[in-house]
Formats: sequence, structure tokens, C-alpha cells
Amino acid sequence: MHGIRPCPLTARRNGPLRGRARVPGDKSISIRALILGALTVGETAIAGLLEGEDVLNTAQTLRALGAAVQQCGGRQWRIRGVGVGGFAAPAAPLDFGNSGTGCRLMLGAVGGCPVTAEFDGDASLRKRPMRRVLDPLERIGARTLNSADGRLPLTLVGARDPLPIVFEPQVASAQLKSAVLLAGLNAPGETVVIEREATRDHTEKMLTHFGAQVRIEAAGASGVNGRRITLTGQPELAPAPIVVPADPSSAAFPLVAALLTPASEVVLEGVMLNPLRTGLLTTLKEMGAAIEEVQRRTEGGEEVADLLVHASALRSVEVPASRAPSMIDEYPVLAVAAAFAEGTTVMRGLKELRVKESDRLAATAALLKENGVEVEIEGDDLMVQGRGRAPGGGLVATHMDHRIAMAALVMGLASERPVKIDDGSFIATSFPGFVELMRSLRAELSG
Ligand code: S3P
Repeated sequence: MHGIRPCPLTARRNGPLRGRARVPGDKSISIRALILGALTVGETAIAGLLEGEDVLNTAQTLRALGAAVQQCGGRQWRIRGVGVGGFAAPAAPLDFGNSGTGCRLMLGAVGGCPVTAEFDGDASLRKRPMRRVLDPLERIGARTLNSADGRLPLTLVGARDPLPIVFEPQVASAQLKSAVLLAGLNAPGETVVIEREATRDHTEKMLTHFGAQVRIEAAGASGVNGRRITLTGQPELAPAPIVVPADPSSAAFPLVAALLTPASEVVLEGVMLNPLRTGLLTTLKEMGAAIEEVQRRTEGGEEVADLLVHASALRSVEVPASRAPSMIDEYPVLAVAAAFAEGTTVMRGLKELRVKESDRLAATAALLKENGVEVEIEGDDLMVQGRGRAPGGGLVATHMDHRIAMAALVMGLASERPVKIDDGSFIATSFPGFVELMRSLRAELSG
């Protein structure tokens, strides 16, 4: 279990990174595949599921709610669903560990069913705001009990007669949108979510894949990437096989490591290129990164490609706030890349980073400072002074945050002196096998 025995790790500069690797399955799609599979009538086969702790914890909560979830080996899973509205009351609290996505999506799925469940998680998840999800769920008819300040642990009493609502989220969040759509599945009539800025659309795509009616229209002023999503409630979801493509948010770490390590040449296979997830690729290319997308193809309803990455000299850029939804999880590793670029990189509109697995804005700035990089936070913006090199030599506090841990190790692979992290155990929440995969590319990581 986490937090009991921390696992320090050190990364140091070595020769070039070389080779081919496939990072694990996408976390967002894996969690949704399990949840929607559990709401179908019949058996869904999932190939390439991410077997990270966030996903395993979600699987366990679905079992507690009555779905049959079976791991068949080779990342193949089978799930026998209970049908929309069919969850049974769990006998014990549902423990989501470190997973905000698992927890928020399941708040929605349970909130639309006539069952009561306790929701809990680890110390990081207990700090994260759930009010943003609970407010619309209460409009749908769910009730929250025993929650201090809208945080875990809490008890959710699901709606007996859920109401369809029209909801306009105040923050750009796919988790929030998905929670409302999942609750709306069991409401009669149309549930509508109006997004000012489009966020990852895996829930909508997968709902359609399982036979629900989802209509997507442009919304908002012209030039704004807003969307109006309308779900027709109470469908019978039919099982359909799911193939999970490789997670671009995980690929980001070996990708940036290869860019920053002189003479590297790495191929990352089958990386998902859903346009609402490719902000990092856009930004790195603007910075001068040599990334080629080869063999574009479709896998599991998503566009994927092999990414051929060559070490590159990078220049600074200004990243607009409007790009945040499509690269929200990639800022820590982008900040590391920015340290090795020439000039000041400005990343705007990072407010949401403060409520991730850690205060990621503060943790990213601290990771850079600790390794001799000049950095400033101004309001919700992050400014990194790139000098083409970084001293390194720091000990980075990871704050139970997998992406801070991996970003710090990437820094250590390229900086002059090694970088140590206090605890690498949380990497397994999203990227089991990270250390082995990086070593297979000749990175030097030690315990
Ligand atoms: C996710 C949405 C994002 C992202 C998270 C996964 C999802 O969170 O940070 O890692 O699968 O919907 P928000 O929706 O809170 O921005």
C-alpha cells in the first residue's frame, strides 16, 4: 500500500536513448471501458486495458456494486454488466485510491442509481474538490451525506427518480462532464452538457459505441471550441468490444526524455492522437521538436500513430490558456522540456493544475527550482527560464503525484547532475512498468 514504504528513485544522464516501446493503455479510456461495460446488459471484452492502480481500484468498486469483472491475462478483461440503473448497494466503502477520474465518474454512475455508497480514497484524493460534481448530481436528485467541505470521505445517496438536467460546467473538465452524462443515463429524457471549451470526448464516443444516442453540436461564440452534448436517457447499452490505444499522457515522458537526451532516436508505438489530447505534440513541435507521426491508423475508434522522436534543440514558446484542456496532464513534463529550451516559456491559464493529484502548479515550480532552473508563478501562469541545460542535483518531493515523479525523473536523465525523487511508488497509478520501459530505451534509473 502507498505511503507506508516510500520508494526513492534516481535518474542520471547516460548515452542517447534508443529503441522502440509501447506505453500502457490510455487511463481515461480504460476507466470508462470498465464503467460503461458495467452498465451494459451482457459481456464486454476489453483488450489492452491499463493495469495501473487507478484502473484496478475502479474495477474493484464495480465488483462491489454487482458487476462481474474478470482479468483474463495479457491485458484482456471481461466484464458482465448489470444494465443502466442496475447497481446493487455495496457492503463496504468504495476506495478509489489516488484516482480522481475513477471517483468522479463513479459518483456520476452511482448518483443516477437508487443505491447508497460511501466514497473514499487516499490522502491525495481526500484533498481534491468533489463539490463541482456533487452540485449537478444533487440537481439530478442525488444527496450527499457526511462530507466535510465537499471532500472525501462522503456518502452518496443515489437518485431514486433521476431528472434530466441542462448543465453548463464552470470549469473545463472531462471528469465533470462525464459524471453528469453517466448520471443522466438513468434519467428519462435528454441530459445536456454545454462545454465552453471542448474537453476529451472519450465518454461521448464510448456511449455511442455501446448504442446510446448522443448528439454533439458546436456551442458558444464563433471561434470558440464549445460543444453542446445531448444524451437520450435510459438506453439499453449493448456490449461491444473495446481496444484501448496507448496513452499519450504516458508517452509524453519517454518522448520528452528522447528530445532532451542528445543523439536519441526512439519510436513510441500506437500512441493515441485524439485531437482533444494532442496539445503537448502541438506545443513541442512549435518549440522545434523533431516528432514524426508514422503509420497513422485507427485503433479502437481512435486515430493512433507510431511517434518517431529525435533529440532536438528546443526554443521557448508561449502556450495559450485555450490549449490547457488538450494537454492538462502534460504541463509538468512540458515545464521540464522548457527548462532545456532557449528562452522564457510562458504557460498560461493553469488554475486547474492546483487541484490535481497534488497542487501541480506549485509542485512543478518546486521541481524545477530544486534543480537550479529559474521559474516563476504569476497568477495562474507559469514562466520557465530555459537555458538549453539544467544543473539538476535536486531531491524532488512528489506529493503522491505520479506525473510529478515521472517529470522529475525525465529532468534527471537530461540534467548535469542526477535527480532523485522521494517516492516513485505512485507511478504505478498510471504507468506500471515505467522504470523497466525507460531502461529498455537505455535510460539510467536506479532505486
Ligand atoms: C481526465 C480528465 C482530466 C485529467 C485526468 C483524466 C478524464 O481531469 O486531468 O487525468 O479521464 O476525464 P479534469 O477533467 O478534472 O480536468
